[in-house]
Amino acid sequence: MHPFDPGYAQAPYADLVGDYPGPEIYPAKDFRVEWGPIFHRGRLDGTARVLVIGQDPAAHEAITRRILVGTAGRRFQGFLNKLGIDSSYVLINTFLYSVYGQRAGTAHATDPDIARYRHAWLDALVTHNQIEAVIALGGLADSAFHTWRKAPTSAAYDGAYEHILHPTYPDSAAASGSDAATAMKQLTTNWNNALTALNITITPDTERSVSPYGDSLTPADLGTIPEADLPPGLPAWMRSDEPWAARQGSTPAEKRATITVQIPEDQRPF
Ligand code: URA
Repeated sequence: MHPFDPGYAQAPYADLVGDYPGPEIYPAKDFRVEWGPIFHRGRLDGTARVLVIGQDPAAHEAITRRILVGTAGRRFQGFLNKLGIDSSYVLINTFLYSVYGQRAGTAHATDPDIARYRHAWLDALVTHNQIEAVIALGGLADSAFHTWRKAPTSAAYDGAYEHILHPTYPDSAAASGSDAATAMKQLTTNWNNALTALNITITPDTERSVSPYGDSLTPADLGTIPEADLPPGLPAWMRSDEPWAARQGSTPAEKRATITVQIPEDQRPF
């Protein structure tokens, strides 16, 4: 049997995915609306105990139609694994669409129209699950959480909250000139502190003594995206450790319009 994500047929999620905001709320100059909204990953059956707020979907997510499945997703899946959280989680992003341009995310961090729909998801998730902790990945997700906390509907939530560095923080820090090893160590130190705090708050699916990160993430620290998190029939290589989707094009417009998908060599049955 192949476990799969059954999707959004049940209330309240059917109404939420049927009524998503488009370019009138998410301007096409700031978001890649042309790839469609990508809503979530994880449990929608009431069994989530950890609620995660990520940032925005990237190329792999545009193909699988579930969030946090690429590098960022596998790094964070490893973090959940260390806490013994193997399946009792649900993840949404701050933004439904991929952010386009460096400042676009910050410019829309507290946008009330974008927040309204995100709050509807957060309200639904905390109402229909017993959430013990909310984890925000990065600064924009942290803003999203605090914006929600100002809305009266969020009063229903009385669990823990942890803001951690975004899983690809070391990559963006290095790209803007920081020392790569230092940025990696910042991430693993920050995540180790969060593991200590969350370990006493969260009821694990599997009892596991937390093994802290070293100075940098190793291949063993990457989690595998469970088959049950993806729509039925997606091939196993879409959960593999190697990148298989990338934006490509010789002009900004062509690059925005093109995602190249290639099966990793060691995953080919031919
Ligand atoms: N992919 C997502 O879906 N969210 C992130 O925050 C990063 C990558």
